[in-house]
Amino acid sequence: MQAISLSRFLIEQQRQAQALPGELRLLIETVARACKTISHAVSKGALGEVLGSLGSENVQGEVQKKLDVIANELLLDANEWGGHLAAMASEEMETLYPIPNRYPKGEYLLLFDPIDGSSNIDVDLSVGTIFSVLKAPENASGREVTEQDFLQAGMHQVAAGYAIYGPQTLLVLTIGSGVYEFTLDREIGSWRMTDGPMQMPQGNREFAINMARRRQWSPQIIRYVEERIQGAEGPLGKDYNMRWTASMVADVHRILKRGGIFLYPKDARPDGTARLRLMYEANPMAFLVEQAGGAAIDGEQRLMEVLPSKLHQRIGVILGDKEEVTSLLRD
Ligand code: F6P
Ligand code: MN
Repeated sequence: MQAISLSRFLIEQQRQAQALPGELRLLIETVARACKTISHAVSKGALGEVLGSLGSENVQGEVQKKLDVIANELLLDANEWGGHLAAMASEEMETLYPIPNRYPKGEYLLLFDPIDGSSNIDVDLSVGTIFSVLKAPENASGREVTEQDFLQAGMHQVAAGYAIYGPQTLLVLTIGSGVYEFTLDREIGSWRMTDGPMQMPQGNREFAINMARRRQWSPQIIRYVEERIQGAEGPLGKDYNMRWTASMVADVHRILKRGGIFLYPKDARPDGTARLRLMYEANPMAFLVEQAGGAAIDGEQRLMEVLPSKLHQRIGVILGDKEEVTSLLRD
C-alpha cells in the first residue's frame, strides 16, 4: 500500500478532535507546495542559473544568494492570496510583510527562513526552508498587523517544520501532536509520509558544533566539548563523534533521526552576540525537537519560553538529546 499523502494526513488530523483548523491546514499545504517549487529550483543548480550571490546584503548583513531571494519570493507569492494569513516575516526582509489589501486576511502569522544554510548551495550540500506559524493576537483583527504582534514566545507556535533539499527532498512537520516526515515523490508531485510519529533516539554520542568559534565560547561550553573530545580517556569514559554540516536544517535533521546534540552557543564575550535567529530558526527547531522527545535551550532557559524583543533577534541554541542538553543546564 502506498504511504499516506500529506493532504490525507492533514485532513485526518483536522477530523480528529478538531485538532487542526481548516485555515491552518490550508496554510501548511501552501507552504509545502511552495517548498516543492523551491526544491525544483535548488535541484536545477547552475542549469537554472540560480547559483551564486546577488551582491546585496540582507537585514542581518549577510550576502544574499540568488536562491535566498528566489525562495523568499516563492513563499510570499504562494501564501499572500489564500486568505489564511494576517502577515508574514522572513529572514530576507527587514520588516514584516502585511497581506496586501486586495486579498482577504486570516488569523495566522507565518515566519520563515527561505533557504537555511545557503553557504552550502554552491557546493551541492543540503539546504532547507524553515517555517513557524503563530496566531495573530485577537485584538489584531481589523487593524494593521505590527511587529509587536509577532513577538510571542515559541510555546505559542501552532505549527512548525522544515523542508530539506538533500539526496531526498523531505518535509518534517509538527502541529503540536508529534513530528511527521514526508518524502517528495517527484514523479507524482506528492508528499508521502515516510516516518512518524518520530522519537529521536536518546544516548547517541554525537555532537555538532563549529569548533572554529571555540575562543568565543563560555567556560561551560568549553568544558562540555573538551570532555567529549577526551572521550574514553576523560571523565565520561566513552568516546564521542563530531559532525558539522553548517546547515542547521541538515544538522537538526540528523539529530532527529539519529540522536545527539547541536550547539550554536551565544558568544561569551561582553557583546554576547549569537548566530541563529530566535523566531524562524531556533523556535521552530525547538518545537520539533521537543515534540520528538528532545530538549532545546538557549544556554540558560527553555528556548520556547524566551519572549522575543525583536523580529530578527539572535539567540544561543543548544538542542537534541534530553540528557545531554539538561546536563549543560546542571553545570
Ligand atoms: O542560517 C544560519 C546558518 O547557515 C545555519 O544554517 C548553520 O547552522 C550556521 O549558520 C552555520 O554557521 P557557521 O558558518 O558558523 O558554520
Ligand atoms: Mn538559516
